[in-house]
Amino acid sequence: MPVPLLLALAAALAANPVACWTTTPFNAPAIPLAVRSPYLSTWHMNPAQPINGNWENFWTGTVTAWTGYAYVDGSPFLLMGTPADGAQIPPSATQQSVNITATQSTFVLSAGAVDITATFLSPVEPGDLVRQSLPFSYLAITATSNDGKPHAVKLYTDISAEWVSGNDNQIVEWNTTIGDFITYEVHLQNETQFQDVGDRIQYGSVYYTVENTTGLTYQIGQDSVVRTQFVNQSVLTNTLDTDFRAISDRWPVFAFAHDLGDVSNTSAPIVYSIGSVRDPAIQYVVANNATQDRSLYFWSNFSSIDDAIAFFMQDYSGASSRAAALDSKINTDASAVSADYAALVALSVRQAYAAFEITISKDSSGQFNTSDVMAFMKEISSSEKINTVDVLYATLPLFLYLDPAMVKLSLLPLLEYQATGQYPNEWAVHDIGTTYPQALGHNDGKDLMLPVEESGNMLIMTLSYVQRTNDKSIITSYFNLLDQWTQYLIANTLDPQNQLDSDVFAGSLANQTNLAVKGIIGIKAMSEIATIAGDSARSSNYSSIASSLISQWEQLATASGNNHLTLTYGDDTSWGLAYNLYADILLNTSLVPAQIYEMQSSWYATVANQFGVQLDTRHTYVLSNWEIWAAATTTTTDVRNKMIQDVFSYASNGKTPAPFEDWYDTVNGTGIGQFKARPVVGGHLALLALPSGSQPGNNNSGSSPPDSQGGGSPSSSPTSSSSPSQSSQPSSAALARVTWGKAVINSIVVMGLVLGTLM
Ligand SMILES: *[C@@H]1O[C@H](CO)[C@@H](O)[C@H](O)[C@H]1NC(C)=O
Ligand SMILES: *[C@@H]1O[C@H](CO)[C@@H](O)[C@H](O)[C@H]1NC(C)=O
Ligand SMILES: *[C@@H]1O[C@H](CO)[C@@H](O)[C@H](O)[C@H]1NC(C)=O
Ligand SMILES: *[C@@H]1O[C@H](CO)[C@@H](O)[C@H](O)[C@H]1NC(C)=O
Ligand SMILES: *[C@@H]1O[C@H](CO)[C@@H](O)[C@H](O)[C@H]1NC(C)=O
Ligand SMILES: *[C@@H]1O[C@H](CO)[C@@H](O)[C@H](O)[C@H]1NC(C)=O
Ligand SMILES: *[C@@H]1O[C@H](CO)[C@@H](O)[C@H](O)[C@H]1NC(C)=O
Ligand SMILES: *[C@@H]1O[C@H](CO)[C@@H](O)[C@H](O)[C@H]1NC(C)=O
Ligand SMILES: *[C@@H]1O[C@H](CO)[C@@H](O)[C@H](O)[C@H]1NC(C)=O
Ligand SMILES: *[C@@H]1O[C@H](CO)[C@@H](O)[C@H](O)[C@H]1NC(C)=O
Ligand SMILES: *[C@@H]1O[C@H](CO)[C@@H](O)[C@H](O)[C@H]1NC(C)=O
Ligand SMILES: *[C@@H]1O[C@H](CO)[C@@H](O)[C@H](O)[C@H]1NC(C)=O
Repeated sequence: MPVPLLLALAAALAANPVACWTTTPFNAPAIPLAVRSPYLSTWHMNPAQPINGNWENFWTGTVTAWTGYAYVDGSPFLLMGTPADGAQIPPSATQQSVNITATQSTFVLSAGAVDITATFLSPVEPGDLVRQSLPFSYLAITATSNDGKPHAVKLYTDISAEWVSGNDNQIVEWNTTIGDFITYEVHLQNETQFQDVGDRIQYGSVYYTVENTTGLTYQIGQDSVVRTQFVNQSVLTNTLDTDFRAISDRWPVFAFAHDLGDVSNTSAPIVYSIGSVRDPAIQYVVANNATQDRSLYFWSNFSSIDDAIAFFMQDYSGASSRAAALDSKINTDASAVSADYAALVALSVRQAYAAFEITISKDSSGQFNTSDVMAFMKEISSSEKINTVDVLYATLPLFLYLDPAMVKLSLLPLLEYQATGQYPNEWAVHDIGTTYPQALGHNDGKDLMLPVEESGNMLIMTLSYVQRTNDKSIITSYFNLLDQWTQYLIANTLDPQNQLDSDVFAGSLANQTNLAVKGIIGIKAMSEIATIAGDSARSSNYSSIASSLISQWEQLATASGNNHLTLTYGDDTSWGLAYNLYADILLNTSLVPAQIYEMQSSWYATVANQFGVQLDTRHTYVLSNWEIWAAATTTTTDVRNKMIQDVFSYASNGKTPAPFEDWYDTVNGTGIGQFKARPVVGGHLALLALPSGSQPGNNNSGSSPPDSQGGGSPSSSPTSSSSPSQSSQPSSAALARVTWGKAVINSIVVMGLVLGTLM
């Protein structure tokens, strides 16, 4: 940084010490607050501002107002949100730090002699269907005396009805339950089952809850009235406005206030829960084009929503401990790759999980059928499609690493539907429905046509799940379907016609090398699946076919200079990220020769732009998940870490303030603007999902020969990481720990704010 800039910064700091805080592990493009389901997705969208410098937003950008105040020794402070509606505006508490882990975002703000810590926890509960399917997040607030003396502390939070819809003209109604807990329930007056408008669900309720403790007051009313009541009086009136009206008509807000008394050290946390619940959650196509209503799984465990909320509230302390342990495990594993990598992974976990919902059906007598559990995924911003196969494929590493059961639960809706025989095409379907939450299938066969892509993906994902879990049920139940897709690949994958692949936005091409190799790995995966199913004749036939195809592919796909794979056969000037090679390492199928990985690794190092290797020669953009998949196929730590660092540089450069956008330009480091908050960031965990000891290429010791038993269990523990080696370079993530006025200054985002204030 040039000296004049430093001086300007120093002057700005002196003039405005408000605008400085530390960020750990980095300045994320947006900070997850309550991010738990497709419809509970609230973010701090512009982290250049403190949390009391912006309204909170749904991922689409519409406001989901969440206001917070503190009273310290008789003086009010603003903690969260930016109320400006005629209410008296108290001074802002000073944001001191932001800390993002895989499941939590923690803000510390000082309000006079007290530090307020606000922890937003969106639990990730691998293997626990009840807890994972509860669409609720926590906010826990504590107050800590920062001078060792006692101070009188009061807290206030409210939510607006914007949490229910993005259309502020809609009329909302509400209800309050007062018992051991106080819960506000808010819903649309005009509910439309299974309708999702502007990505917001048109039925169901938002719930905002605290424990009923002494020192609690509550109030529903107009925003300015309720907030002014607290700011002037430091207590609420315990009155409940029942004049149901439009969201923006005298903006009704739902508020709680707590008197913490004198705080001389750290107070016990005030815990809030916020949730978005609907029932039924999903409409799913079954035999004869009939539909089935499916509920979120947790309903099978509770007799009422009040019981579910009470369980969630009472579970806070356990949830908090589990979250800390999970955050620590993920951070330890990812830090073994690099600090940049750990930062990316921390930001990705909640975002990916929140696209998924775990559901259960009822049998004809109305009882929950615990043998029928399925997970549904919304693409989120790229479309509203459901369980899009190539999006599941991109997300696969997250679940193989943390939660392999989720792979099966997400494949089941696709497998079960196609097993009914209603889908007319010989290849695998692209998705299970066009518009979330209506999973109505594609009985006309006119879904988006990605035949090689999705057939290969289904086979690869199926084998990956069985390898990790030894649960062979999906092989047994759906063997014929898997074999049908393999037949399609055998006939088509080496010479794919003018097909689309996962990167639909880039357009279709004939003879794409990266697509063809996926199909060949898919055939090899079916060979392993046949072995597991005891069909050794089929297994050896498919294994030979895959070996023969891979040799032909190598000839067709390698540029004549033997220095890179082409994008399409025969076009030596073309190239791209051969990210599908990752599947060969993941499955330990060892089909692709080692020299291909070495060649690509060297090539990536020579063609990288400032923010990474572009997707292919047609455009300078890339998807971050494929960049990380490709990084996981490199043969040197330097190349791997550079590719990770390039994605991190994009993520941390402050140019794209939005829930992480995976589609970005590798030259200008800016998001393309359309792929926000998508689950594919689960692909950032690609290095953590590889079986321990795995290496690229088929002539490394330790990898199995083509006709070995295969398909067994490459890793008894899905938690093992891929023997990563330490980076000797100081990472940019470490440098991004900004400590103003003390040591390192390396935050474009925060710096821009300071300078902006100066000018
Ligand atoms: C961030 O949070 C994690 C988990 O709670 C904690 O281990 C770490 O020390 C925190 N870092 C900072 C700088 O506060
Ligand atoms: C608060 O309590 C902890 C231990 O519970 C102690 O380490 C710390 O010094 C105390 N802080 C103040 C300001 O008294
Ligand atoms: C409030 O809840 C009660 C009990 O569930 C219900 O009968 C009533 O219709 C609800 N009112 C509104 C406005 O939602
Ligand atoms: C809620 O708490 C108040 C005191 O804060 C108490 O009077 C009331 O009985 C509680 N309500 C229930 C239903 O427990
Ligand atoms: C109710 O909402 C649906 C959209 O979900 C809309 O099409 C319909 O016009 C609305 N009806 C009324 C009476 O507002
Ligand atoms: C709040 O206090 C301010 C000044 O202290 C006063 O001007 C205003 O009228 C008060 N508003 C209410 C609603 O009490
Ligand atoms: C299947 O049912 C859906 C409505 O759920 C309908 O839109 C579609 O036309 C039906 N398809 C066939 C092939 O009957
Ligand atoms: C509900 O789920 C919790 C957590 O998984 C479990 O401890 C409890 O036993 C379950 N209760 C019922 C009734 O299934
Ligand atoms: C429960 O679901 C399983 C799996 O879909 C199904 O085979 C079974 O028939 C269902 N049972 C009932 C009673 O509906
Ligand atoms: C695809 O590649 C094959 C093998 O080189 C070739 O025969 C075929 O013509 C190519 N297709 C197109 C559309 O270029
Ligand atoms: C191997 O599989 C292919 C494709 O299904 C089939 O055409 C061929 O007959 C099989 N060969 C043997 C020996 O079974
Ligand atoms: C970055 O590059 C993309 C092309 O990939 C272009 O569309 C976009 O406008 C550029 N953005 C900026 C800020 O230069």
